Amino acid sequence: MRLSKGRVVEGRLVCPYHGWRFEHCGQGTSPGTPRLCATARRFETTERHGIIWVKAEGPEATIPEMDYPGYYRIHTFQRRVKVPLLILLDNFTEIEHAATAHFTLGYPLEAMSEVRMSTEVDDRSVRVVTEGPQKWIPWAGSLLFGMYTRDRVSFDWTTRFSPVHTEYEVWWQTPSGERHRGFRMKYIVFFRPVTDTETQLFGCYFSTMKPWGVLGLNILRRLVLAGLIGYEFELDRRVVENLADFNTSLRGAQLGRFDRPLVEQRKRLARIYYGVDQPSADPEAGLTEALRVAEPSSTHGGRPWTSA
Ligand SMILES: [Fe+2]
Repeated sequence: MRLSKGRVVEGRLVCPYHGWRFEHCGQGTSPGTPRLCATARRFETTERHGIIWVKAEGPEATIPEMDYPGYYRIHTFQRRVKVPLLILLDNFTEIEHAATAHFTLGYPLEAMSEVRMSTEVDDRSVRVVTEGPQKWIPWAGSLLFGMYTRDRVSFDWTTRFSPVHTEYEVWWQTPSGERHRGFRMKYIVFFRPVTDTETQLFGCYFSTMKPWGVLGLNILRRLVLAGLIGYEFELDRRVVENLADFNTSLRGAQLGRFDRPLVEQRKRLARIYYGVDQPSADPEAGLTEALRVAEPSSTHGGRPWTSA
């Protein structure tokens, strides 16, 4: 029985099936058979940012700090999406789709070939930095936030795998890059597989905008931003849930220069999150080399990758 369906009575977790009760250390008793020795597995837990974190077994697992000095929380949300974990992770760690699928966050399709991207990897993380022109922003958005269509926008995100999460930083500059626009954003998104075909997402968004601002205008800005974040997510959800199939193997796929992180993430997800370490079991072995061949020349604005 799932003890998560139980309830706490006098400091003990009571199983809803036969009423066995467990201490916080996992030691349990059975009211029907008092001499029985019952135990449940015990996990380290902590409460942070209004969420209860349960630490998985194994040395890799860490509970992220989520402390960003100078940043204020704008929005927190959780959703379930009817796609496998890897499909949702691909979507959140790939920028090419933003041109078509997003409303305003990302680069315009006609300038996608100018977007510069670099990828850095180490044993435990995959980092991506992109820079290019901002796609269309409605005039009301420019008025409210002080940033404009064709400004220079940069994304810098790092994905780690226990728990599976990505930390992002976004900032805007004038088209020439000589000065920064209004505010910066940071956000962190966690991905948790519910079943093989459903994934829970938890996102926490922060910005350098102070809670009030002049005449309390930041209250409006933060509300609009929170709505926009929810809307962008909804657009992504519609795209990923309508994929033709959920085959996550990249073998035989046509890989472009924006797909490098997807390859690297598969390797680390298999090793760190699923504990598959044998090279022969590596689901995407050899793809890094295939990608290197597929990489367009530097005239497309791609910078060389750092290899694992
Ligand atoms: Fe997206």
